[in-house]
Amino acid sequence: MIVTDIQLIKKTVENGEVIGLPTETVYGLAANAFNETAIRKIYELKGRPSTNPLIVHIGHADQLKDIVSSVPEKLKQLADAFWPGGLTLLFPKNESISPIITAGFPNIAVRMPTHPLAQSLLKSIPFPLVAPSANISNRISPTKASHVEKYFPNIYTLEGGACEAGVESTIVGMEYEEVCVYRWGAIGREAIENLVGKVLDRTRGDHAAVAPGMSKKHYSPTCQFIVSKEPGFLLSISLQKRVGVIWFNEVLWTGPNVVAYEVLSPTGNLEEAAKNIYDAMHRLEDHSLDLIIAERLPEHGLGISINDRLDRAAAQ
Ligand code: TXA
Ligand code: MG
Repeated sequence: MIVTDIQLIKKTVENGEVIGLPTETVYGLAANAFNETAIRKIYELKGRPSTNPLIVHIGHADQLKDIVSSVPEKLKQLADAFWPGGLTLLFPKNESISPIITAGFPNIAVRMPTHPLAQSLLKSIPFPLVAPSANISNRISPTKASHVEKYFPNIYTLEGGACEAGVESTIVGMEYEEVCVYRWGAIGREAIENLVGKVLDRTRGDHAAVAPGMSKKHYSPTCQFIVSKEPGFLLSISLQKRVGVIWFNEVLWTGPNVVAYEVLSPTGNLEEAAKNIYDAMHRLEDHSLDLIIAERLPEHGLGISINDRLDRAAAQ
């Protein structure tokens, strides 16, 4: 149920129930981080393996000391620069944090969202909220209340409009003295490196021990999905299929096999493309397609984050 009553949402989380929470990145499925029963409900609702930990959301920086055991200097710099906002940081956890949240890992992932409704809810309750993206595991992430409703019609989802960033937070942690990125998201590489220097990219290859949720296949629509630098050629040889196309800034090919298409940003703006990518995937999913072909975006700024999601949607 989509609701606008923030008091109802507040009471629901205080009662240990799960709610749909708007944030500036994507909508989250949120519950009291200090209530183990509530946390288990999230894993169950999402169909998420208990080995994949949850991000803890705080309303103000003071709450950090209640949940972490230390704050490395470089992560503090990043928090000062990007919180509230689309950056999740990995800190050594303290004993108050249930191992169910961190799936037994020594670090806890923390983020302070900037969405005004998420902020006002977090500031009105005496506990942080755990919140994974509000989708069934491995399905397309939600950037509108209606997307959450499609997956979870039986919970209260707070109406918060379309998410500003539209892709998940960037996840950053430390390995010894090195700053490492485990997921590219709402904050681009350049912004982070301007502040703390070169970072190690841990988003590919075998870093499962540190970023357990970054499986190759993820964010999937329900039909075949291909990413291509030149979708035109693939389209011209897919004439027997019902095809949907995701173009970056303009339509470069059309034909009778193209049942639906989306243009992410007519002006070629990567922020706008990020804001639209999941919504475009949700809309295409409703057309009973055989195949979606997505144009690969320029590999810089948020283009890196969007291409990452496209590649994971395409992974077999
Ligand atoms: O933007 C976001 O981060 C959204 C909104 C709702 O805040 N949340 C989100 O959560 O994307 P989720 O659960 O869909 O993705 C969180 C990722 C997963 O890949 C998970 O494995 C990783 O963060 N993660 C969470 N806790 C971790 C930890 N303690 N150590 C390493 N990775 C962790
Ligand atoms: Mg997710």
